[in-house]
Amino acid sequence: MSAAHQLAPLPDDSIPDGMRIATRGNANPLDAIEDDLRNTIFGQNRAIESVVRALNRARFGFSAGNRNRPLVNLMFLGPTGVGKSECAKRLAQRLHPEGGGFLKIDCSIFSQGHEVSALVGAPPSYVGRDQKPLLDPDIIETPNSVVLFDEIEKGTAELWNLLLQIMEDGEVTLLNSGRAVSFRNAILIMTTNVGAKEMVDYIDKRNIGFRSTRQDMEATGQQIYQIGFEALQRVFRPEWINRIDEIIAFRPLSSSTMSRIFDRMMKEANGQYINYGIQVEVSPAAKDHILRKGYNPTFGARPLRARLLKDIDAPLADLVASGGIPQGSRVYVAYQGGEQYDQELQFYYQPDEHLAQEARRRQEELAREPSRRPTPPAESKPSSQGPSMARSIDSVTRR
Ligand SMILES: Nc1ncnc2c1ncn2[C@@H]1O[C@H](COP(=O)(O)OP(=O)(O)OP(=O)(O)O)[C@@H](O)[C@H]1O
Ligand SMILES: [Mg+2]
Repeated sequence: MSAAHQLAPLPDDSIPDGMRIATRGNANPLDAIEDDLRNTIFGQNRAIESVVRALNRARFGFSAGNRNRPLVNLMFLGPTGVGKSECAKRLAQRLHPEGGGFLKIDCSIFSQGHEVSALVGAPPSYVGRDQKPLLDPDIIETPNSVVLFDEIEKGTAELWNLLLQIMEDGEVTLLNSGRAVSFRNAILIMTTNVGAKEMVDYIDKRNIGFRSTRQDMEATGQQIYQIGFEALQRVFRPEWINRIDEIIAFRPLSSSTMSRIFDRMMKEANGQYINYGIQVEVSPAAKDHILRKGYNPTFGARPLRARLLKDIDAPLADLVASGGIPQGSRVYVAYQGGEQYDQELQFYYQPDEHLAQEARRRQEELAREPSRRPTPPAESKPSSQGPSMARSIDSVTRR
């Protein structure tokens, strides 16, 4: 490179007199959507920002000249369990709070032998003509619908051709009825794990661990994008990739992000426990223990959910069913340490009259509406007669 190329360009002195410098205002309604996405999909602020920027452009109908396309064509890249599908789902919920306006096509059906006729229907004389095509015009043509093609690498060449047509013409014809479905008011989101194996190898090599800093994760994110983009180029032709408006990389999750996801999962779990008048708090040490066991940057947040089921849900259900914890209790999960596998956590409880009332109220409600009833644990009396408040919190062992 010549020295001339390395010089900074001269400041632009061509700005006409009287022009004001533009700065960003705060009137954009999409800002609220961005905030909401940030509050539910953690540690993916850059990805969320890209999504919102693309939506913003689409909202004004700025489409680089071609109006016959979906509002926006997005591709979410990244390792497994980092929030790609969740982000699409949440965006749809936010745009359509009353429901509807969201269609998810799980592309793994194509690797199980389904053909594209599952999407567009079969012509009248063919087998399968009675089956309703998955591309439902009522949903897709709802303004600002979100159409998610999940895990597109599991599809076939036939599917990818159909996607090319959607991205380029914004329209496909259903073969069973001859009806055209327009995607022009739809937000098209595709997700993929292409390159996941290389991403995993890269993460392993970098030795990303439980205590990796946010900066580490940030640098990793850029590399993940590069790996994903190169993998995409190996699978798809350039003209296919060029139809995508924005390729958005989701990053591996840092431990602080995992901690926020843990808190949210516990909140959701408490939303279920309350049906039995149970509310659970997990001590900081117990939380740290579960996070360590459930942390695997290769699989994102997926192992964490499994850990919670095993370490909290299962023993809690057992304790309640066996009468070890009465319905209507505050429960505290503490870390005991020790060598014995899977006995590191200990459950403590304290009966609480408000929670007991709440349990009775909910169970009466469910009795009136049996269709909504979850399978309740066997009715049982607690083995101890409920400790007095003076004894405060009792410890119970699981077996
Ligand atoms: N960044 C995140 N913030 C909050 N929750 C998350 C995040 N990532 C994952 N989760 C949790 O993990 C679950 C799985 O995430 P999701 O389905 O979005 O994974 P994905 O990125 O689509 O992975 P895959 O490539 O395997 O489909 C979600 O339902 C959510 O509960
Ligand atoms: Mg997914």
